[in-house]
Amino acid sequence: AGQEIHYFPETDSTNIRAKELGEKGASHGALAVADRQSAGRGRRGRGWESPPGCSIYMSILLRPSFLPSSAPMLTLVMAYSTAEALQECTGQEIRIKWPNDIVLNQKKLVGILTEMSSEIDYINHVVIGVGINVNMDSFSEEIAKTATSLRIETGQVMKRSTLIAEIMKHFERNYDTFLQSGDLSGIREDYNRLLVNCGKEVRILGAKEPYQALALGINDSGELLVRKQDGSEEAVYAGEVSVRGI
Ligand code: BTN
Repeated sequence: AGQEIHYFPETDSTNIRAKELGEKGASHGALAVADRQSAGRGRRGRGWESPPGCSIYMSILLRPSFLPSSAPMLTLVMAYSTAEALQECTGQEIRIKWPNDIVLNQKKLVGILTEMSSEIDYINHVVIGVGINVNMDSFSEEIAKTATSLRIETGQVMKRSTLIAEIMKHFERNYDTFLQSGDLSGIREDYNRLLVNCGKEVRILGAKEPYQALALGINDSGELLVRKQDGSEEAVYAGEVSVRGI
C-alpha cells in the first residue's frame, strides 16, 4: 500500500481525490496526500479543520474483492494500524475510541472517514481517509477542548512523511491478516488492548432508548460487545449508535 502516492499542496478533500483516482483506474493501495484541505470532511456531515503545514490528510484507495458488508471492518483495521504506528513512533499511550477515533490523553488526535462506491454484491472501491493532528499548536475555539495534536501532548515536532510510511507499513500487514480470515479475529485482541472504552461504563446513544452498559471490547465483526445492567450482553453496531464514556 502507498506505492503510488499523489501529493497535493492544496485540495478540497483527499477523500474526493482518492475517489477520483479510483474512477480513473488507479491501482489498489494508491494514496492521496495533501498539505492542506479547503473542504476537509468529517463524519456525520461535519467538516475537518485542515490548516496547512502541520497535519496529515491522507486517503487510501482500496479495491477489495470481498462483499460490501465487510467494508466497515476496514475502518477498524485502519484505526488499529494508525494507533499502533503512532504509539511506536511517539512512545505515547495512544488509544482507540470505538469504533475509529484515536485519542491521546482523552482528546481526539485522529479521525477516520471511510467512503465506498459499490453495487449490492460488489465493491468498486473503498476510500479510507485519515486525518492526524501532528504539529498544530492550537485549534479553533469550537474544538479546542476536545482535540489535540502530537505536538501539544509531547512538545515535539514530528516528520509527517515518516508517520505516513509507518502507518502504511502497519496497515499493509494488518490488511493481509484481515484478508486471511475475512474478519477482525487476527487483530481483535490487540485492538481491544488499545480500546479506551474497554472495561468501562459507557452510554449507548442512538438506540431507541439510550442506556448504560459495560463495554467488553469488539467481536470479530467489529461490533462493540456490552453487558447491560440486567446482565445480558449485546453487540452494538457502529452505524447505529455512538458511545460516550461516563
Ligand atoms: C471524523 O469526523 O472523525 C473523520 C475525519 C476524517 C478526516 C480525514 S482528513 C483526510 C481525509 N479527507 C477528508 O476530507 N476527510 C478525511
